[in-house]
Amino acid sequence: MTDTRERETARKLDGRQCAAAIREEVRAGCAALMEQHGIRPGLTVVLVGEDPASQVYVRNKEKASSAAGMVSEVLRLPADTGEAEILATIDRLNADDSVHGILVQLPLPAEVEEQNVIQRIDPDKDVDGFHPASAGRLLIGMPGFLPCTPAGIMELLKRNGIEMKGRHAVVVGRSNIVGKPMALLLLREHCTVTICHSRTRNLAEVCASADILVAAVGRPGLITADFIKPGAVVVDVGIHRITDEATCIELFGDNPRRLKAVREKGATLVGDVHPLDGAARAGWLSPVPGGVGPLTIAMLLKNTLVSAGNRIR
Ligand code: GUN
Repeated sequence: MTDTRERETARKLDGRQCAAAIREEVRAGCAALMEQHGIRPGLTVVLVGEDPASQVYVRNKEKASSAAGMVSEVLRLPADTGEAEILATIDRLNADDSVHGILVQLPLPAEVEEQNVIQRIDPDKDVDGFHPASAGRLLIGMPGFLPCTPAGIMELLKRNGIEMKGRHAVVVGRSNIVGKPMALLLLREHCTVTICHSRTRNLAEVCASADILVAAVGRPGLITADFIKPGAVVVDVGIHRITDEATCIELFGDNPRRLKAVREKGATLVGDVHPLDGAARAGWLSPVPGGVGPLTIAMLLKNTLVSAGNRIR
């Protein structure tokens, strides 16, 4: 194969810009809801334990919801909190009229059955879109809360004017949070959809037939040039820390900014798409960082505003 890495042709699917626009819309919506109906949207996040990544995510959610004008609350429970106590906390939040959105940060401690907790959340407050009722609504095309990451990707595609009808979309990954709902949302927009996963044969070949490729596999830089049809729309959902210089050079070439980050901060971030190959072959590409990531929180805020608005009789 010819080396196409010299040319960077892909247009950027700018998640930061898209998320900022959505957050501004939500802020305006919150102000209007308060002014016209006296309702201030409330989001409560439940965090069990001290997982460092979860702590960062939760802090970001808290800041973003406050900035949008919401009542923002974080309930921090110790790592050894039992399932019964978590369920009782959710019961209390379900019954609290000032709470419009409930989010239980995942992963939960291993002893806790995640599905029991998710299913305890009132589906009317399920702003994460993880409840089976929300998943079922998405499946059969009823209105309901959509999981934030795939919903954010749809906003990114639509706001950049990406044509979806009749095009072949390939989703790599079959998680309940991203892959499966992503495939259903693309189907809803009249894409022809293929879901791939770790057991898919000829993965590169299937991916290379995609007009729209969504990579949510959890393997750094897996999607190389031979997975990408020239000119395809490529959305990268992966986020991985690269800590060694050799891998950094393999992924980013001699990009001085990335090497500096590894040397001075100890890490740089990469997605599931090989960044040089993606930039050279794709027509559109979402960067990491600054692509899909910022949209997840923006859509959480949007779901919370919608939930609060649903209280108007
Ligand atoms: N952990 C990582 N991402 C998410 C998310 O979107 N929602 C929840 N609840 N937990 C997460």
